[in-house]
Amino acid sequence: MSKRMEFDVLIIGSGISGLTAAITAAEKGLQVALVSKESQLTECNTFYAQGGIVAKSDEDSKELLMEDVFRAGDGMNYKEAVAMISGYAPEMVVEFLIKKIGVEFSRNEENEIDKTMEAAHSVRRIYHVKDTTGENVENALYAYIVNKKNITMFPSHIVIDLITNTHNSLDSQQRYKSTKVIGAYVYDEKSNQVDIFFAPSVIIATGGVGNLFLHTSNPPGATGDGIAMAYRIGAEILNAEYVQFHPTILFHRDVERFLISESLRGEGARLKNKRNEFFMVKYEPELKDLAPRDEVSRAIFREMEMDGSHFVYLDTMLMKHIALEERFPGIYNKCREVGINISKDSIPVVPAAHYFCGGIKVDLKASTSVPGLYAIGEASCTGLHGANRLASMSLLEGLFFGREVVNSIMEQPFDIPASLKKNIPDWIYPAAEEEFDPILINQDMLNLQTTMWNYAGIIRKSKRLVRALADLNYLSHRIEKFYKQAKITRKIIELRNSVLAATIIVRAASSNKISRGCHYIE
Ligand code: SIN
Repeated sequence: MSKRMEFDVLIIGSGISGLTAAITAAEKGLQVALVSKESQLTECNTFYAQGGIVAKSDEDSKELLMEDVFRAGDGMNYKEAVAMISGYAPEMVVEFLIKKIGVEFSRNEENEIDKTMEAAHSVRRIYHVKDTTGENVENALYAYIVNKKNITMFPSHIVIDLITNTHNSLDSQQRYKSTKVIGAYVYDEKSNQVDIFFAPSVIIATGGVGNLFLHTSNPPGATGDGIAMAYRIGAEILNAEYVQFHPTILFHRDVERFLISESLRGEGARLKNKRNEFFMVKYEPELKDLAPRDEVSRAIFREMEMDGSHFVYLDTMLMKHIALEERFPGIYNKCREVGINISKDSIPVVPAAHYFCGGIKVDLKASTSVPGLYAIGEASCTGLHGANRLASMSLLEGLFFGREVVNSIMEQPFDIPASLKKNIPDWIYPAAEEEFDPILINQDMLNLQTTMWNYAGIIRKSKRLVRALADLNYLSHRIEKFYKQAKITRKIIELRNSVLAATIIVRAASSNKISRGCHYIE
């Protein structure tokens, strides 16, 4: 039997932004539903962030941080978002993450917080917990919410679609009103039922789109779900052409998706090609290996093309002053598992899809263009990142808007009229639910990922984008058809969302003829 539940806030996604919103809302007395498609709520992009989070530093200033954000974003950033985050968010790391949540960032010999460096930063301002910052932040936030009375957690719950008055009500009069989000249809993997979660405020915190590409640093759950579900109800999406590729993912047959943090380059590691040449100086004589990520990724791509190689190397030989095993234990141990000793061997690396700089368009209060719907973190586009994100700004943005969104929600009405809820039908299951062959689903996903990697990846060309759109249209038609007949599963929901999110990205890339930041057209 399907359930119909009601909360003050429905939060979809449990990374830094979702958990911060949940904590803030709960502490204001709101009843929160926290939904994650994973069985473990800590499984999310935040968990895998290695480098760190930009925070307060004596060497730094709001103006300096703004300059770096603009330079990395190729000037496409929204000035007000940059000013707001640069001005207020670094302090929030101290007040919220350290003092309230109890995150213990790494300290130096003087027992001060150790600040590391990453590409395109002009000063050391990145707090880190060795090279497992995300894991530590996520675990600390999770430990904090676990016993909060008014947060109900729903692991293994996958949102299929948002519910609005205009799209879902059986009352024909509602279609003439303006659209408002009032909840979501949510598939419970354990009971195999689709339940209704009503909430006057729904927050999308579903993360990014890495898995739309063949190679990615993201965990498998990053399938563009939030972007797709928001688009289906008419929310505006912005800057979708800007997908950031991280230059250094471990290249190894037995290891998928393992990031080699930029902070290694920040602390002295350098990229070299198969012929042992430190090539970055050729492309970026001034910043060299610490140039913005899009530039480094393209340089690697060109070197690989030139040498007919599948990877380049990251050389750690200039890091003798650092105890690598101690400072970078995550990377050290993962590499060791596959026979690479980073204290003496170079690390084979390759670029991969990493971060979505675009997303659901929101204002500075995290409100989308549809009343009742909010977006935070990587799924949202505040304009902070412009055409390319400055390293270690994403956890900061998630944290800041995780709190801000609750201030917006507090200004909104808290009830959904009973007559409106009554007219929302239960989920309609297909008459004869077909069990779909997983091979078909896997093949469609692989097709999509290869299309995105080859035609809409690091270096784009108009003709490739035209081809991508045609292929995605075909896939989309087929997927939508079997989605309508299929027994609902997580894989089918993700595939349906992925093909829509991919189409949104390719459309945006096709209509923007100007190379900027991580949208590079040749
Ligand atoms: C890294 O550690 O290289 C990733 C940091 C980020 O993407 O901000």
